[in-house]
Amino acid sequence: MSLPGAVESMRAEVLEGLTRPLRELSPKHLYDERGSKIFEEITRLPEYYLTRVERGLLREWVPAWIRDLRPQALVELGAGSAKKTRVALDAMEDEGSGDLFVPVDVSAVFLQEVADELRADYPDLRIEPVVLDMAHSLEIPEPLPRPALFLLLGSTLGNFYPQDATDLLHRIRDRMADEDHLLLGLDLRPSPRKPVEVLEAAYNDSRGVTARFTSNVLRVLNRELGSDFDLEGYRHRARYNSEEGRMELGLVSLRDQTVRFPGGATLEIREGEEIRTEVSCKYDRTSADALLKPAGLEVRRWVQDGDDRFALVLTGPQRAPHS
Ligand code: TRP
Repeated sequence: MSLPGAVESMRAEVLEGLTRPLRELSPKHLYDERGSKIFEEITRLPEYYLTRVERGLLREWVPAWIRDLRPQALVELGAGSAKKTRVALDAMEDEGSGDLFVPVDVSAVFLQEVADELRADYPDLRIEPVVLDMAHSLEIPEPLPRPALFLLLGSTLGNFYPQDATDLLHRIRDRMADEDHLLLGLDLRPSPRKPVEVLEAAYNDSRGVTARFTSNVLRVLNRELGSDFDLEGYRHRARYNSEEGRMELGLVSLRDQTVRFPGGATLEIREGEEIRTEVSCKYDRTSADALLKPAGLEVRRWVQDGDDRFALVLTGPQRAPHS
């Protein structure tokens, strides 16, 4: 249950986004409990290679990196179900390095469930979940035992527009000590071994799970704000924008329709008009460097799979140049 003040600010923020020339919703509304569960389903789809390829890379590289870095704490931003994190937790356990795990996510209910599961499986681990929207703040418990390893996996960075991504990286950098690291999972741009069709299929699965995921956001708005979006009145669309190097996901109105909010606000949405629900930016070395550098971070290791689909990027605070 949200407080009245929280509903009011959500309503203001949602209406602000929906009345822009290009209507847009914040991706955080996608991840209520139902949305988080549908997203779990997405990660198991045959077309959604990201999770699978990333998990393979984590298994291949993370044990050795943990052996070298010996992190005392693991902080996972946008933890979700924290399934892939188990690779890192297992390695920390094997090395006897650290015993603190801080999963951070916007979805409170889901985060609590995940923490309970992990407590059962890792009795020696201290788990301190933090509920927050990392788009706005990163208030995590301090002081962390050092060195700490921060994780931002699943190409979640790509769900931020470039300037917002750099701001987020900056906020993370501000939480990092010089000996800490940040491990990013980044989805890559199309290339000879990665046709654009592979990319688009990941967001247009044949079973319509992704469509269910995006339209769930309208259900969230109806429930939280009392609006009357017709859940059947839109179709999911996902296209690669090669100029911007990103997937653009949204809901396209199937007809002219009016949406009403309690208190009198209305939206007139025309047939064919899109409400953007998310972007998913894709990377190469150059575009990743361009985000990291202004945030004060640099690439220490960059590894990717044999089909050039996905990269794991170990970054750290820029070292002062030698004088
Ligand atoms: N970080 C994920 C990604 O960019 C989020 C995501 C996966 C997603 N599938 C989606 C977001 C479908 C919206 C719709 O791939």
